[in-house]
Amino acid sequence: MNLRTAYMGLDLRNPLVASASPLSQTVDGIRRLEDGGVAAVVLYSLFEEELRREAELFSVLGTAGTDSFAEALTYMPEPSDGIDSARRYVSLIERARATVDIPLIGSLNGVTPAGWTRYARAIEEAGASAIELNVYDVPGDPKLTGADVESRHLDVVRRVLDAVQIPVAVKLSPYYSSLGSMATRLAAAGVDGLVLFNRFLQPQIDHESLSVSARIDLSTPADQRLPMTWIAILRGRVGASLAASGGVETGTDVARYLLAGADVVMTASALLRHGRDHAGTLLSELAEWMEAKEFTSLDDVRGLMSVEREPDPETRRRAGYVGMLEAAKQTFTH
Ligand SMILES: Cc1cc2nc3c(=O)[nH]c(=O)nc-3n(C[C@H](O)[C@H](O)[C@H](O)COP(=O)(O)O)c2cc1C
Repeated sequence: MNLRTAYMGLDLRNPLVASASPLSQTVDGIRRLEDGGVAAVVLYSLFEEELRREAELFSVLGTAGTDSFAEALTYMPEPSDGIDSARRYVSLIERARATVDIPLIGSLNGVTPAGWTRYARAIEEAGASAIELNVYDVPGDPKLTGADVESRHLDVVRRVLDAVQIPVAVKLSPYYSSLGSMATRLAAAGVDGLVLFNRFLQPQIDHESLSVSARIDLSTPADQRLPMTWIAILRGRVGASLAASGGVETGTDVARYLLAGADVVMTASALLRHGRDHAGTLLSELAEWMEAKEFTSLDDVRGLMSVEREPDPETRRRAGYVGMLEAAKQTFTH
């Protein structure tokens, strides 16, 4: 079965991509992801805070040749520099590039339009085929408007776009008040790919110790529903590739995301849970499903169940919601 796929102009051997996770922290880990069958790897994120902290320390030590924090951030790490995380990250990409054949996608995670976005260029120079920008933001200030948040995010994205020639994807939050408009504006700004969605920290309160704990749980298939809904809505309506991220466990989950309209399907939790070779299982299950359904190409599958192709798109919107609650009233009448 031919599963070749285009994502942001990259030619991939299949539609399965390893999303950012600790599985890509070493060259060997990346090589084992390739051996497992994924078509590309998004590296774990390089965080703005990490760069900031190290640049501040660097500046305090006076080794950057500047006492300005902003300037220290614009300073590209050399092997002798103190900005360890950036240096390690760039070196990882260089070494992995020399070892694996599949595209590597660097991941930058930040929210302010500071000099850290220049690290995008270092990632490009190290041999990354693309950059994924995770603008993780919890706009906790109640006075901040949605328009302010959106323009801040667009600003960060534009700076990264200006810095590099390689394709740039944005890992989106599902919490914009009009996600479609934000997606359209990002594509118009030149973003090549949209990853739906970023996972958000939802801290738990411990009622015994009266503390708040923050930990990341591996996802479950229930996490597919929100990204799948939005991929189906956006398919064919924004000028950017679409990547699904969230809740993949089996090959039929991959199939469903493709039916909704994803160009590629990303997975992290399933590989963390079952091992990197699970990618091969996901791909053979996808191929088996395609054969059983007599699909001969991914072009026949992709977007088949998108809103664009649906005769009654209202079923995916308010009419569907009202109908669902009406049906529930019938079911739960006691
Ligand atoms: C342990 C762990 C670490 C992660 N680290 C990152 C990260 O560094 N950057 C990022 O953008 N996403 C990160 N993610 C999010 C994943 O890339 C992915 O978007 C999310 O887990 C949903 O996909 P999944 O259901 O296949 O896990 C991480 C997820 C997990 C479980």
